[in-house]
Amino acid sequence: MPNPNFDPVEVSALQPETIEAAVSAALAAFTAASTLDELKSQRLSHAGDRSGLALANREIGALPPAARAAAGQRVGAARAQVDRALAARQAELEIERDARVLIEEAVDVTLPSDRRAAGARHPLTTIQERIADVFTAMGYEVAEGPEVEAEWYNFDALNIGVDHPARSLMDTFFLGSPDSGLVLRTHTSPVQVRTMLWREPPIYVICPGRVYRTDELDATHTPVFHQVEGLVIDEGITMAHLKGTLDHLAAAMFGPGIVTRLRPAYFPFTEPSAEPDLLCFVCRGDSVGNPARPCRTCDSEGWIEWGGCGMVNPRVLVACGIDPERYSGFAFGMGIDRTLMFRNGVEDMRDIVEGDVRFTAAFGVQG
Ligand code: DAH
Repeated sequence: MPNPNFDPVEVSALQPETIEAAVSAALAAFTAASTLDELKSQRLSHAGDRSGLALANREIGALPPAARAAAGQRVGAARAQVDRALAARQAELEIERDARVLIEEAVDVTLPSDRRAAGARHPLTTIQERIADVFTAMGYEVAEGPEVEAEWYNFDALNIGVDHPARSLMDTFFLGSPDSGLVLRTHTSPVQVRTMLWREPPIYVICPGRVYRTDELDATHTPVFHQVEGLVIDEGITMAHLKGTLDHLAAAMFGPGIVTRLRPAYFPFTEPSAEPDLLCFVCRGDSVGNPARPCRTCDSEGWIEWGGCGMVNPRVLVACGIDPERYSGFAFGMGIDRTLMFRNGVEDMRDIVEGDVRFTAAFGVQG
């Protein structure tokens, strides 16, 4: 009877022939692997945790102590040989891959390139952002409203009665029939109403946006144009706040020293109402009565018409659920396209509308 504690026991995985066979199979498989991926899968079969040699290694513990050293040496040497062969083949294949990538991914820098003309942001976009920046810096928020608007917001809530000329078919695009109750908004003032209805005072907002009127497109008119509306509702707001705000906007957009003046006017939604004029930023008034220095920007008037403004009519406050005894406010609205025209010397409205890149590119990437 063999003594199981001291005599070698037959463990087939540890037989020298089995181990040699495993080594040769591994070396042959590594040589045959022609890509790094193939080598990886061969590594798992021949040198991984489930490979024959790993199995043999685990069997050593089952041997009687006297037999362990010899078996351990045999398996260790075999595994080392396999690992060396693997590393050598890995290095070879990496060199081959690097050489191939250099060829396959080479870029011919002499090929003609596909040159695309760079576009440019439309100056209306940049001027609107500039205006928004001026106001957000003072703590205002930017409000938005829909371009398809209920007649009530566009007219009624703003104290524009049914007989007001602005409501007639001449100016307003109605959706469907004139009794549909829906219009393309003719101004940004309905956003005032929406803002007052949805928020509690204090309110400090501006609303830039697109508006529509039934005008033919020509050098000075377009049926689609842009306005910016301003609205402030708070306790103790006076016309002095309005004037100061308009002067600040004027200076921010046209340079220090450019101020506004208020000419009395009428709007149904403000009382009192005024039309702000802008001091001509080209001649600063020097052209007035001075034929030697005519000014094309203001037609030698010294002032440029710049929209409408006023103290929000208490009737509008009431329509929007705001207590006119406690709160007062101012509002203003200007045409952005018009502002762009005189600010940048654009002479034909159609240039703004048509979207020709040669026009927008002239403004470059001005921020
Ligand atoms: N909504 C007016 C228009 O389109 C402009 C305007 C006038 C707006 C006076 C206002 C304002 O906010 O107070 O002609």
